[in-house]
Amino acid sequence: GNNKLALTPPMGWNSWNVWGTKVSDEKIRAAAEALERTGLAACGYRYVCVDDGWQGRRTPDGAMQPNERFPDMKALGDALHAKGFLFGMYTSPGPFTCGRYVGSWRHEEADAQLYARWGVDYLKHDWCSYEGIARQKTPEALQQPYAVMRAALDKTDRDMIYAICQYGLGEVWTWARTPTVGGNLWRTTGDIEDTWESVSSIGFRHSPLAGFAGPGGWNDPDMLVVGVVGWGEQTRRTRLTPDEQITHMTLWALLAAPLMLGCDLTQLDEFTRRLLTNPEVIAIDQDELGRAATRRDAANDGTEVWARPLADGCLAVGLFNRGDAMQTVTAYWKDLGIRGRRTVRDVWQRRDVGSFDERFAALIPPHGARLIVVGASRPVRPQPVKPAKVVSPPS
Ligand code: GLA
Repeated sequence: GNNKLALTPPMGWNSWNVWGTKVSDEKIRAAAEALERTGLAACGYRYVCVDDGWQGRRTPDGAMQPNERFPDMKALGDALHAKGFLFGMYTSPGPFTCGRYVGSWRHEEADAQLYARWGVDYLKHDWCSYEGIARQKTPEALQQPYAVMRAALDKTDRDMIYAICQYGLGEVWTWARTPTVGGNLWRTTGDIEDTWESVSSIGFRHSPLAGFAGPGGWNDPDMLVVGVVGWGEQTRRTRLTPDEQITHMTLWALLAAPLMLGCDLTQLDEFTRRLLTNPEVIAIDQDELGRAATRRDAANDGTEVWARPLADGCLAVGLFNRGDAMQTVTAYWKDLGIRGRRTVRDVWQRRDVGSFDERFAALIPPHGARLIVVGASRPVRPQPVKPAKVVSPPS
């Protein structure tokens, strides 16, 4: 279970929000091509993930087969690897997946071996339809099917990132990293949608979970729903405003969240492309210290200040305006646990804005954000990584 993977949050693309169960080999290859063409691959978006909808039937002896939209899964994996991508796959512990396709129930070992043969590097394991089997909602019952797949993955000759997708039942973050489960990320919420209500209610809920994230295991607030999401309908319309997209990316980077794109890359516009490729924002998400941000201040007017410490001793600070009117948001040094004169760099604009005493204030549009890096008082050595809290299962 200690697979040394995901030492920083995984980055890539997942088919679900764009294609739903209408995913196909062709669409996966097109997404990989678009990752390359747009420069996203070069920025680190490397996992190309097939979500629900690839499954066909099992042969009489139990071997899982893809459906007609995936003529040759191994060839697809090889093609992705040849371009430097990593291959993501999806299944569910019950007899059925959430999309009513065939799940891995009682076939975990054979399925894991098959994924390994296909060259899979990342497995998302859902929950749907296991509910009837689990019956109880104790932490032991909730983690049991993930331990079964963990053991199956450990018997293969491949390292796979293990993404746990169970939400709304227990506190998955308290057990997902336990060695018998060995999750590298775990969904913390239900499915995200490309609306301000969904993105903001999910993102701003994560402060209490910060201590559970760290190198090797991450809170997963679900896909980035910037750009054209589509939901299989190909709306050709971006539903989040530019400011809402800035808030989404700023918050996910501060949360040390996986940067898994849930948008149609073949319709990526220049604004969203630049949003997703800002190297300084990505560097914050991928900071090797792996400490997730917490809320440092919030007011009734919907303004909030969040911060995460970085490996070089600086602080990444988000100034947010959740309100519907333009407002000034102020980050007070006392709320950040620092004092004295500090340099401030605007991360989105990629420029130094000066040095400040006691606070930094900015006028922020409705649903918008500023992301700054506040310098260390003097160069400091990286702090040792605090081990994330793990609750061991009772023996
Ligand atoms: C669940 C998950 C989604 C997606 C679908 C597939 O709803 O939360 O991310 O994988 O199942 O059916």
